Amino acid sequence: MSATPQTSPHPHIRSFSGRRGHFTSGQRHAYETLRDRWCIAYDAAQPFDAQRNAALFGRAAPLVVEIGFGMGDATAQIAAAEPQHDFLGIEVYPAGVGALLMRIDAQRLANVRIVQHDAVEIFREMLAPDSLARVQVFFPDPWPKKRHHKRRLIQPPFVALLASRLQPGGLLHCATDWEPYAGQMLDVLSQESLLENTASDGGFAPRPDYRPLTRFENRGRRLGHEVRDLLFRRRLSPTERAPTTP
Ligand SMILES: C[S@@+](CC[C@H](N)C(=O)[O-])C[C@H]1O[C@@H](n2cnc3c(N)ncnc32)[C@H](O)[C@@H]1O
Repeated sequence: MSATPQTSPHPHIRSFSGRRGHFTSGQRHAYETLRDRWCIAYDAAQPFDAQRNAALFGRAAPLVVEIGFGMGDATAQIAAAEPQHDFLGIEVYPAGVGALLMRIDAQRLANVRIVQHDAVEIFREMLAPDSLARVQVFFPDPWPKKRHHKRRLIQPPFVALLASRLQPGGLLHCATDWEPYAGQMLDVLSQESLLENTASDGGFAPRPDYRPLTRFENRGRRLGHEVRDLLFRRRLSPTERAPTTP
């Protein structure tokens, strides 16, 4: 992975650990046999512009990007429920990629593609400004130890990058069950000038119907963690304010 020059407006966050995890036999089989069909190689020379997306998905449709889809349960459920959208799932964890490939195959999902690579680089190098209908970041690694806070994804420079890739009116949807991180997310998203909170009180949002309960969420609930959704909209223009309903 190339180092980011100190002058970059988007300094690199190393938000994932080197853990590899274990494939189940089904995930390994899917990873070996379905990757060529549904995964797209990271290639900064081939950005996801409208022409390429139309070729990849066989149509022109609003694009939703999910960062760190884990085992892909929410991704597959949302993609099945929103056939009018195309979905790009980003994950570094091979077993997770195998798990989502199994779901794509089992549910015959034609509107999902995967990039197995660092989301920070994909947003910086492959996603065009003003191009995304929605970005989903569900239960990002909380990095609870103070010395690891710098590894959290939701920090001002990366949020500025995410916001710049949304279309005007596009949504950034984050969810977490880690209370201190939820507070950080609310502060950072509220301070990004391209974004506007859809919650009328300027706080957390109710869980939108399209986001299903994930494995992580159910586990968090069992541990007594409250889950917070944050739903911010890219302003239509620097001066015009977007409507406040999701
Ligand atoms: C705590 S898990 C949550 C998974 C899933 N979103 C869910 O709700 O069940 C966070 C996931 O984000 C992935 N991840 C973290 N940083 C990433 C990055 N920079 N690019 C791609 N994936 C990343 C990790 O590999 C992990 O699978």
